[in-house]
Amino acid sequence: MTAALKAPPVQVAPPRHFLTLAELGPDGLHSLLDLTTRLKRDPEAFRNPLAGGRIGMIFDKPSTRTRVSFESAAWMLGMLPIVLRPDELQLGRGETIGDTARALSLYLDALTVRTFAQSTLDELAAAASIPIINALTDEHHPCQALADVMTLQEEFGSLANLTLAFVGDGDNVCHSLIQAAALAGFELRIATPPGYEPSETILADAQAQAVSTGATISLTHDPLEAVGGANAVYADVWTSMGKEAEGGARKAAFAGFRIDAQLMRKASKTAIFLHCLPAHRGEEVTDEVIDGPASRVWPQAANRLHTETALLYTVLTGDAGGELLT
Ligand code: CP
Ligand code: NVA
Repeated sequence: MTAALKAPPVQVAPPRHFLTLAELGPDGLHSLLDLTTRLKRDPEAFRNPLAGGRIGMIFDKPSTRTRVSFESAAWMLGMLPIVLRPDELQLGRGETIGDTARALSLYLDALTVRTFAQSTLDELAAAASIPIINALTDEHHPCQALADVMTLQEEFGSLANLTLAFVGDGDNVCHSLIQAAALAGFELRIATPPGYEPSETILADAQAQAVSTGATISLTHDPLEAVGGANAVYADVWTSMGKEAEGGARKAAFAGFRIDAQLMRKASKTAIFLHCLPAHRGEEVTDEVIDGPASRVWPQAANRLHTETALLYTVLTGDAGGELLT
């Protein structure tokens, strides 16, 4: 693939993985958002710079947005996307994760993976000689957070001085938003029911990063406290993929955590509503809010394509500034 680039990659080895948002660092996040802005203004500049490249995509869980946006991003860049279902791979018949990574590295230039444990990604990344990109695990959803901060930046002009209220489960989407706040320096208030708080380790690492970026990240069990005066209110499903057996208990635990018009009125007058989607309408959000004037869920979903195109380009070329693009 290298030979097909318009100019040589800045750096190709060792592979630069994208397993969590934190590993971008503040400068990496800002560069990626700048590159995405450029891509949205001038999409033709991003057509086919990776012609001849191939990207594999393993999906151990369902996906609508991530799969189609990554396939479209790969096509835009000139790459062949190859979607791999778990029942099509020898992994399901006992081949190790390491051997799978070694084999796929022989044929592909990058691999995106949606799976359960973050440790599966870590094992793939340790054995692969190509970049591994996290397309959602139980712990992180960094590609979603990229689209989220892009949407916030477009809406408010800057990420500084923003307050985002996340109301819901402290799992993958929340964890990546914590890392986004820490990198970008905004205020994140998280409201979860007791027992559904985010990981203490992820939070502690983010708080350490926040010292240099000015971010503040706080936890509460009271949605009103989180939402009061916020610039944006964010919801995720109450029951993530793989946790369906807990669905009944979760409905009871999250009953007071629905985002409805009354709760949105407690946010800033100009507040927007965000959701990673898919939404379970009537559970975490009412139709009135998700279909209402404050909702930005469709521009947010559209940004998945743009941020992932910029991400793939950057990860595969090392050209974070887009200097090799013509
Ligand atoms: N938000 C998101 O990742 O959506 P999908 O599950 O449809 O990919
Ligand atoms: N927390 C949700 C996000 C879906 C994009 C889940 O893991 O199912």
